[in-house]
Amino acid sequence: MNRLDGKSALITGAARGIGRGFAESFIAEGATVAIADINLDAAEQTARELGDAAYAVQLDVSDQDSIDSAIASVVAQAGKLDILINNAALFDAAETVDITRASYDRLYAVNVAGTLFMMQAAAQQMIAQGHGGKIINMASQAGRRGESLVLVYCSTKAAVISMTQSAGLNLIQHGINVNAIAPGVVDGDHWEHVDAMFAKLEGKKPGQKKAEVAASVPAGRFAVPADLTGMAVFLASPEADYILAQTYNVDGGQWMS
Ligand SMILES: NC(=O)c1ccc[n+]([C@@H]2O[C@H](COP(=O)([O-])OP(=O)(O)OC[C@H]3O[C@@H](n4cnc5c(N)ncnc54)[C@H](O)[C@@H]3O)[C@@H](O)[C@H]2O)c1
Repeated sequence: MNRLDGKSALITGAARGIGRGFAESFIAEGATVAIADINLDAAEQTARELGDAAYAVQLDVSDQDSIDSAIASVVAQAGKLDILINNAALFDAAETVDITRASYDRLYAVNVAGTLFMMQAAAQQMIAQGHGGKIINMASQAGRRGESLVLVYCSTKAAVISMTQSAGLNLIQHGINVNAIAPGVVDGDHWEHVDAMFAKLEGKKPGQKKAEVAASVPAGRFAVPADLTGMAVFLASPEADYILAQTYNVDGGQWMS
């Protein structure tokens, strides 16, 4: 008996990185998982690698029609939707005086509106099914306090924490538990991109920012996706039925809240 036997999950941005790690762990616990990503080729490749319990779904979380068709596609393929992980997000960094409207609009469309309207569409489906559900949003330590060069991204993750609280309080009447995970720093493609940005903004050598950040983590290292999967499986399982509107730090001791 696995902890997610018979469950149907949709994970946004699951073609790579943390989302892919969640998909692997959910499949190991018995779930069927939609690898939903804006990059369909990468999603299909990942789904093939994860085996029969995974299938790819085209999804742009910043587009309502795409959200609606992704939910319909999950229902068509798996018969229902029990679990949503809102994992897709974009990052950017800039001096406050250099932030562009285009960057702001892009990050808010994906990280904030994408999270909200994915929660809404998933909740509508779960309510129609009548058996509740689980929604997990990806926040970040960046949502716990601002960072000098990361105003827009930090504020989107603070919004994710707040939306998790309001949606959690509102959707529990339907038996839907909404919670969030706030990672610290997780190794992968995302951090290669972040390191390159900081190299430019702070005049650092490639790899220097990553090394400095790793040294500052109380646990002494970056996380890998597998460090986060235990929390995600737990929040998606019946063991978490009495937990809602919370954001859990899984960050090697970076933050206490
Ligand atoms: N990596 C870290 O250090 C870290 C730390 C804290 C929080 N997080 C959060 O964890 C989550 C996953 O991070 P990651 O490092 O694996 O990211 P990543 O950049 O490696 O992967 C993101 C995935 O989302 C997809 N995506 C991008 N825009 C999309 C859209 N509009 N619609 C659908 N899919 C889209 C991408 O194609 C990609 O597959 C994000 O919410 C991120 O903010 C990451």
